[in-house]
Amino acid sequence: MSAATLAGQRLLISAGPTYEDIDPVRFIGNRSSGKMGFALAAAAARRGAEVVLVAGPVHLQTPAGVHRIDVRSAAQLHAAVLAALPADAYLGAAAVADWTPRTVAAHKLKKRAGVDTLTLELVRTADVLAAVAAHPQRPPLVLGFAAETDELEANARAKLLAKRLDLIAANRVGVAGSGFESDDNALTVYGRDGFARALGPAPKTQLADALLDLLATRLARP
Ligand code: CTP
Repeated sequence: MSAATLAGQRLLISAGPTYEDIDPVRFIGNRSSGKMGFALAAAAARRGAEVVLVAGPVHLQTPAGVHRIDVRSAAQLHAAVLAALPADAYLGAAAVADWTPRTVAAHKLKKRAGVDTLTLELVRTADVLAAVAAHPQRPPLVLGFAAETDELEANARAKLLAKRLDLIAANRVGVAGSGFESDDNALTVYGRDGFARALGPAPKTQLADALLDLLATRLARP
């Protein structure tokens, strides 16, 4: 069976980590590899979608036919995603930092004799996914990801409601064979309409296709 087409659809996808700079040589990052978002972008382009991929710092090749916008910080990702609207769907696969240093030091922070601690003041970043879902140009389909170590379903459903999403793909992190750096993953997709479907464990490339099948069905609904 051939994959459901996405021709005529514009998909906006975020992927990878963000880096929040502390000084010219240090940053706060996270362990996202970007593989899931890049797999989604590649698979969506193969199905004929127009794909805009907003990517944090990752070592991955741009998939064929994908328009890639590179960003570094959560603030840059936020601006790039909102600037790329409108879209038919937003897939928020990026692991966006929740906190960023209040100020970025212009010079490298130096150690000082007798000073054993360093206090960084962090401030909340904007929630990109919630901003897209609340935007006047809200895409008809907004999908988030939820990385959880515990209470997978309850936490994912809470995020689905709080961020006003249509779908959320929940995955367990901190276990072997799934999560951030792995090539494989297992997802459970929950819908605002009560929908629930387990996908995988499978390679992220296969999961991307399974997710796009779900999206294609929903995007095709009148
Ligand atoms: N997300 C986002 N902007 C942020 C934080 C998260 O767009 N500043 C998005 C991610 O792209 C992902 C979803 O929110 O699709 C869930 O991210 P997750 O880290 O699991 O949840 P948080 O909302 O950050 O909540 P918590 O850290 O409390 O689990």
